[in-house]
Amino acid sequence: MVLLITGANGQLGSELNNILQRGASELGALPAAYEGCEVLAVDVDELDITSPGAVDSFFSRHKPDLVFNCAAMTNVDGCESDEERAYRVNALGPMNLAVASRKHGSRLLHVSTDYVFDGLGTRPYVETDEPAPNTAYGRTKLAGEKAVLDSCGGSCICRTAWLYGYVGNNFVKTMLRLARENGRLKVVGDQVGNPTSAVDLAYQLALLGASRESGIFHCTCGGDPVSWHAFAERIVQRAGLAVPVESCTSGEFPRPAKRPAYSALENRHLEETIGNSMRDWKEALDSFLEQYLEQEKNV
Ligand SMILES: NC(=O)c1ccc[n+]([C@@H]2O[C@H](COP(=O)([O-])OP(=O)(O)OC[C@H]3O[C@@H](n4cnc5c(N)ncnc54)[C@H](OP(=O)(O)O)[C@@H]3O)[C@@H](O)[C@H]2O)c1
Repeated sequence: MVLLITGANGQLGSELNNILQRGASELGALPAAYEGCEVLAVDVDELDITSPGAVDSFFSRHKPDLVFNCAAMTNVDGCESDEERAYRVNALGPMNLAVASRKHGSRLLHVSTDYVFDGLGTRPYVETDEPAPNTAYGRTKLAGEKAVLDSCGGSCICRTAWLYGYVGNNFVKTMLRLARENGRLKVVGDQVGNPTSAVDLAYQLALLGASRESGIFHCTCGGDPVSWHAFAERIVQRAGLAVPVESCTSGEFPRPAKRPAYSALENRHLEETIGNSMRDWKEALDSFLEQYLEQEKNV
């Protein structure tokens, strides 16, 4: 089997590449279907998904059986100031992959976001809830979802949220850095979601990829949804940093793109089909921190 990971240098793509190359995750073995597979892990320098010609010729040459699209423009504020570019990467890119997947008989898993919802929810969103994005990032990601579903039946859309991993910058690493630099933290307490480890998401995507399921799947770590403030408190506490963490409102941290107040997701479709293997966010975070802090010591 030939596997293609696009956006393979990113947080999720690199973790997925890691477990597919190893044939195992810390969460368990990968399905037998992956044994002996060839993994093509590419980023924009090797395969720019916004180019239909480049995508088609890549598929013609390599004939991937399974495609994980981890490529995206994820800078939420950057998307707000350049929606045209965001649309190219987040909507046209997935469409190019979907068209090529249909033509070449590949199975496509495309990753999307909680930002497709309006953030006004009072209980976790399920896959059948109506999206209503409020940001350029959310609008372009929703357009990407639709393009994939319209162009390549049998594909999976995997919506995740509040992602962090070993590679690249993320909230967990930022909190550790700021706590060490400033000895105190001030973090918004009025935005609620599901912190999600790239380790858990990569494993869940591998399980989904090996299945025959299709449609929209929410894929976030479980446990009670939390605020960024409560998430930060857990990060510093588990890292052994005795710093005060003050809660503040989003109004005190104005950003070009308005963040959703409540964007928690429920993994209902996974529960109803292949099963939900994603851990409680606290367990996933503890495991991440244990390994990440160990890595830091060795740098
Ligand atoms: N990060 C989050 O908190 C979060 C939350 C919800 C959903 N998601 C979704 O999860 C997925 C993975 O996110 P992530 O955090 O792993 O993102 P990431 O770290 O930003 O990685 C995305 C990768 O895609 C690459 N890329 C950008 N434009 C490309 C193009 N035209 N062709 C090919 N590759 C391109 C990026 O390269 P450059 O860095 O050079 O641009 C980067 O290496 C995305 O679909 C994202 O929308 C993320």
